[in-house]
Amino acid sequence: ALALITSGCGGSKEGASEQGEQKDKIVVKFTHVVAESTPKGQAALKFKEVLEEKSGGQFEVQVYPSSQLYGDKEEQEQLLANNVQFIAPSVTKLITFNPSFQLVDMPFLFKDNNAAYKFFDGEQGQKLLKSLEPNGILGLAWWANGMKQFTDSKHPLKSPEDFKGLKFRTQSGGVLDEQFKALGAGSQTLAFAEVYQALQNGTVDGQENTFNNIDTQKYVEVQKYLTISNHGRLDYVVLTNTTFWSSLTPEQQQMVTEAMNEATAYERQLADELDATSFENIKNSGKVEIYELTDEDRAKFIEALKPLYDKYAESIGQEYIDAARNS
Ligand code: LMR
Repeated sequence: ALALITSGCGGSKEGASEQGEQKDKIVVKFTHVVAESTPKGQAALKFKEVLEEKSGGQFEVQVYPSSQLYGDKEEQEQLLANNVQFIAPSVTKLITFNPSFQLVDMPFLFKDNNAAYKFFDGEQGQKLLKSLEPNGILGLAWWANGMKQFTDSKHPLKSPEDFKGLKFRTQSGGVLDEQFKALGAGSQTLAFAEVYQALQNGTVDGQENTFNNIDTQKYVEVQKYLTISNHGRLDYVVLTNTTFWSSLTPEQQQMVTEAMNEATAYERQLADELDATSFENIKNSGKVEIYELTDEDRAKFIEALKPLYDKYAESIGQEYIDAARNS
């Protein structure tokens, strides 16, 4: 079959059979930056499976993991250009569109995963998701990864003082850079695909991520210490572009929505499960010394990071912060 890109239309459409049967196949791409074995990686495959089945083969979803097709920056540009139809970036990478997305980075804000899910599915979470529409981007779902932990290669990180003079990788500027600054550390924004090497060659001393990303990216090979801090979150928004979306019939949109809902339920359950599995893997590797913050330690971090709330309450929006805190 001949693949042709129809202008104004989503992925490529392939004319179906030699008999001239008029059933176009809609070929779409879903790209992401993490390993296939992560909650996001598995949920992208679940979305593919459900949508292809539900549509009786009308849709074909091509999934590209591990920045194979596009890295952090490119995937956003290519989504806007409709060269990719689905991406699921970490929420904080959307701050150029709307600074309120930095909510997930605010230190010690969400109690636990359930509080985050409640926020995502509530009024404020849905409002935030819709805020991208003027940019030609449609937010389809909130996916999760979990709570972030610190790792580094120099010494154990037990108190805010231990961060002085170290340099950490961040996913984006804004709150994350400010967080390390408040702890007396430096930071550098790096694409996810560059982190392992930057840790290995000492460009940065440490980083923050979930157990699952630390595990699947094998950061334990290039880090010596891990602190269980649960200080911030890593979550995703699944995005499509309005050009592609409006090229679909209402029935097709419905199929995508239903497949996405199934993938989302699966993703969140998996995020919880893999968080625990990855923690075990990290522990059993014996490659990093693990320290868990005590309540007393935690209180010191909360105090040291308090200024972030004064600084960012306005640009993030107090109503979002309050909704997150009360979830
Ligand atoms: C990161 O850059 O650390 C994360 O956004 C990667 C991801 O997508 O989980």
